[in-house]
Amino acid sequence: MKAESCRIADGVYWVGTLDWDLRTYHGYTLKGTTYNAYLVFGRDRVALIDTTYPGTSDQMWGRIAHAFACENREMRIDLVIQNHIEIDHSGALPDVHRRFPNAPIHCTEIGKKGLLKHFPALDGASWEVMKTGATIDLGGKTLVAVETPLLHWPDSMETFHPESGILFSNDAFGQHLCSSKRFDTDLPAPVLMEAAQKFYANLLVLPSKMLVKKLAELTNMGVVEKIRMIAPAHGQIWTDPAPILDAYTRWATGVCEEKVTIVYDTMHHSTQKMAHAIAEGLIAGGMDVRMYYLHEDERSEIVKDILTSKGVCMGIPTVHDAPYPSIGDLLYYLKGLRFDHTGRRRGVVTFGSMGGRGGAVKTVADEMTAAGFDVFEQTECLFVPDRDDLDRCFDIGRRFAESLKNT
Ligand code: FEO
Repeated sequence: MKAESCRIADGVYWVGTLDWDLRTYHGYTLKGTTYNAYLVFGRDRVALIDTTYPGTSDQMWGRIAHAFACENREMRIDLVIQNHIEIDHSGALPDVHRRFPNAPIHCTEIGKKGLLKHFPALDGASWEVMKTGATIDLGGKTLVAVETPLLHWPDSMETFHPESGILFSNDAFGQHLCSSKRFDTDLPAPVLMEAAQKFYANLLVLPSKMLVKKLAELTNMGVVEKIRMIAPAHGQIWTDPAPILDAYTRWATGVCEEKVTIVYDTMHHSTQKMAHAIAEGLIAGGMDVRMYYLHEDERSEIVKDILTSKGVCMGIPTVHDAPYPSIGDLLYYLKGLRFDHTGRRRGVVTFGSMGGRGGAVKTVADEMTAAGFDVFEQTECLFVPDRDDLDRCFDIGRRFAESLKNT
């Protein structure tokens, strides 16, 4: 299809795909995303960095043709750099190989194994296994590999282009956003940063410690000071790398706002009333509050706010002597994400109503402890919260806020 590329630096073009219609991506709600691929033109050779989701390559080919026309060169991809296996970035790789069978594929060792599992048709391709520091000379332009294992898959790597100072970071520093414009400066800063925060919370919390080490390693290699632009594989390109580098450092080390996230579900509005009373106590104690109702809200938005919260309040009624089941999805998700890997064990209050033996709040407290949170307090009420119950909830909220301040 006819589609235009976007020149982002001398001889460097964005040639990715706009996926306007995507609404969920492995459990992450969104309103579209982009699969960013890039062409780097050297004097002698042209490199394609990453590709696009299976079935969406028409746009990419249109943009590639446009970029070659802009450079006034015959269309020929000389090599491919595949920074990451996952098919939103590698889905069109077999197509690229069919059109340019002599173009070697550059990736990590694990990347090669994974790509061959995904795409057996690549068996006959020429492969170049990349390790950190491996350099590709395109003729006056170079590309340097940086392995980033487990950020966020074992195969992941990034590619640095020293002449332009562009870091092609693949998933890292990405955002699931779809816009007609390509750069950070094209969107309001809070919109962009919130999308980046949601992306981090859902994809990168678990390897936070490795991220801190990798940033230190890149700083020691002298790469960080040379980065003038970060070109991720999703969303907007960072023309000013400082805000997102600073945000990643904060998120990876558990720096939080004076904020508590409340998550609850309710059968007959009793647990809801407790949630609202706890919120009042938190506000009185000086905390900002985010409120999520599990009947309507979903996990990827909730964890976005947990990332920057010092505490979490989980409200759930008891049914069949167990937690009302809607909390189960979030509990399993939190056990996988491991927010304590940011170096902070966030506090948690569990609360809820019950009509018999109760027990949901203890079960949820135990599960949250196993997920890396520290339980501050648990409280139940019988059937409907009365004035004393609500006063108790207010007091818990206020004391929880005080315990979290300046931590
Ligand atoms: Fe955007 Fe790990 O894929």
